[in-house]
Amino acid sequence: MAVNKSLFLVEHDKNGVYHAFREDVLNGLKQSPKAIPARWLYDETGSQIFEDITELPEYYPTRAERQILVDRSKELSQLIRSNGAVVEFGSGSSLKTPLLLSFLQPSVYVPIDISGDYLRSSALKLSSQFPGIPIYPVEADFLRKVELPEQVVEYSKLGFFPGSTIGNMVAGSAVDLLRSMRETLGDASQLLIGMDMIKDPKILIAAYDDKAGITAKFNLNVINRINRELNGNLPIENFRHEARWNNDYARIEMHLVAKESLQFSVSGEVFTIAKGESLHTENSHKYNERTANILLQAGGWTPSHRWLDNQNLFSLILADATIPRSAP
Ligand code: AVJ
Repeated sequence: MAVNKSLFLVEHDKNGVYHAFREDVLNGLKQSPKAIPARWLYDETGSQIFEDITELPEYYPTRAERQILVDRSKELSQLIRSNGAVVEFGSGSSLKTPLLLSFLQPSVYVPIDISGDYLRSSALKLSSQFPGIPIYPVEADFLRKVELPEQVVEYSKLGFFPGSTIGNMVAGSAVDLLRSMRETLGDASQLLIGMDMIKDPKILIAAYDDKAGITAKFNLNVINRINRELNGNLPIENFRHEARWNNDYARIEMHLVAKESLQFSVSGEVFTIAKGESLHTENSHKYNERTANILLQAGGWTPSHRWLDNQNLFSLILADATIPRSAP
């Protein structure tokens, strides 16, 4: 296969990812309640199942955000500084990235993702769709500041963080992440971020526990990943998927609940789990206008515009990198 010349691959560290995964899982299993950070749901299989989730009738966020992008494309192209770089936090496999690239026509596109294989395959697809836009995929953990390829340093930057992925993080970590993005992108950058809205828990639960069982498959996949990559022996058939609304934190939680008391090992370490106890695998925080604003402000971003879909389910927010001031 001829590799598009506009596609530049950046060196990565498979071993580093393995060690981070192992450390996160072992630490998480020693905690009470037990937890596994949500980012490990997205291996190649997990990322593919997630693509299926985005097409489920119950899962509204993807459609709602896409609708906002379509309806507001004119406004967005006027508000976003032109001829710049779009830096996407995530591999940009969805339909949203082509949408944004078509109406913004940026000079370069930089997807950043921890899953290198998925990053490369989606970058390849995009490069044939947009032969005029050079793509510089960066395989990195964007929870920390990412060194951007020197070819994009000169451009004005728009960070793109769609899908309410920010909702995966508790407030403190979300603020850390926003600050890292602020560092990665620098002064005078902008951020276009999707944030899911607080709404009737019935709608939320249905979105995270669909009739077809695709979300259950997505959640359970992390067990397969642990077994395969960390030499684990968790009996997958003895866990079931559960979606819970936690009103105190305004979030949906995904859990893998043990159907009975179990003993298993991961990477040579032995663990037990009681019947009914769970592995907490994901948080999906929801926001209203004020909580969204305060989160962004705490993270070094000043919101400038906000749009909702026609059912008020989802919000897309444009923000400017805050220039620190020493006085109010
Ligand atoms: C990709 C984190 C935005 O929280 O809605 C979907 C992940 N988990 N269904 C979300 C997810 C279960 C999704 N994010």
